[in-house]
Amino acid sequence: MNKIVIKGSVPLEGIINIDGAKNSIVALIPASILSKSIVRIYNYPKISDVYVLIDILQELSVSTKITNEYIEINSSNIKNTPLTTTKMGSLRASYYFMGALLGLFKNTTLRLPGGCYLGPRPIDLHLKGFETLNCRYDINNELIYLQADKLIGKEIHFPFPSVGATINTMLAAVLAEGETTIYNAAKEPEIVDVANFLTQMGAKISGAGTSIIKIIGVKELHGTDYVVIPDRIEAGTYLILGALLGNPLEIHRVNYLHLYAILTTLNKCGVKTYINDDKIIVYNSNKLLPTDIVTDVYPGFPTDLQQIITTLLTQSHGISTVTETIYSDRFQNCQELIKMGANIVINDNKVIIKGRTPLKGSEVVAKDLRGGASLAIAGLIAEGTTIINEAQHILRGYSNIIEKLQNVKANIHMST
Ligand code: EPU
Repeated sequence: MNKIVIKGSVPLEGIINIDGAKNSIVALIPASILSKSIVRIYNYPKISDVYVLIDILQELSVSTKITNEYIEINSSNIKNTPLTTTKMGSLRASYYFMGALLGLFKNTTLRLPGGCYLGPRPIDLHLKGFETLNCRYDINNELIYLQADKLIGKEIHFPFPSVGATINTMLAAVLAEGETTIYNAAKEPEIVDVANFLTQMGAKISGAGTSIIKIIGVKELHGTDYVVIPDRIEAGTYLILGALLGNPLEIHRVNYLHLYAILTTLNKCGVKTYINDDKIIVYNSNKLLPTDIVTDVYPGFPTDLQQIITTLLTQSHGISTVTETIYSDRFQNCQELIKMGANIVINDNKVIIKGRTPLKGSEVVAKDLRGGASLAIAGLIAEGTTIINEAQHILRGYSNIIEKLQNVKANIHMST
């Protein structure tokens, strides 16, 4: 299995360029099949989830070309093959093939999604969306069967603004008959990105980025060239790193409007950041202050940065708390941080962090993507050598992370 080896406590300086958003591209790739002409996606992140989704496209007889700059997807010979291989279960975002294949063929069979364990991750809201559009479903032996005679636009009221269910409903609705309205839609920038992508392909969508999204079904979609938005979680991760070790670090190719929650949190912790258009300069702070964080849907503090900010708070002088409201079990990194010397107490959905405690290099395990990133940052600030086992989790979501960190003088490498 993959390991990352880090010799820590080295100040970092230079530029880190942010790539396209993981949680956007993982929806754009399945969404591409809704057009039978060529779609090109630029600024894609070089992450393993992308390569798995491209492999899945091949099972559908969709041809793809990958260059360093773009992914080209040509679905002119697409076949509605049941997607039952274990690849489907190796990541969460394979669930976007449900909405896309249902939208295109009105029926599909797929293996249920997998992804990081963060507590139970049901897909009932996705199914509620499909059912409202006139689809029947059945789940048996890890397989889901979706079937509609025709998809008919309706009003859908979600009890919670789920990112995945909002996107999946959009995917199923763009080619449906009539008008679909999603109430209590998720408002994350990735929702807007997917809506913009579909709109460029000829879909009629309004309201993305607000809690009411309207979709008027069209007969077909055409090809397009599209540039993915910057990854706000990747940017937030490196901003947190800069707050700890930046001498300074410059984070380039960001959209700072998407980073409000993390920038204000860093500011509360006494971190200095300077924004200039799509660049942010961040200096390490000599005396980090404690704070209290509660995760929330966008524009609140993102759950995907919760584990990473926890590493920073181990270096704040005083008591901090982090309350997780989106997932029931997203603290698996804390045991590993404790091994490295952190003082963290877990209480249901809240952790209490007493700082500052120096961290020492240790052998730890990445149990999930963002938890793994939190350990990489811990390793970079720790004295001595840290070995992160199961590092493949980190590569699922951070584009060229080793090269990017080496470029800013980190002592980090992969090992087997
Ligand atoms: N939920 C349900 N039923 C559903 C769908 C969601 O109960 O049908 C619950 C989930 O179990 C969870 C909460 O609602 O407790 C939030 O789920 P949501 O659907 O909003 O998230 P998701 O689509 O499963 C995406 C990202 C996650 C990110 C969340 C929240 C992808 C592939 N994943 O997940 O990203 O945490 O939105 O922003 O886009 C990550 O990047 O590390 C990651 C986990």
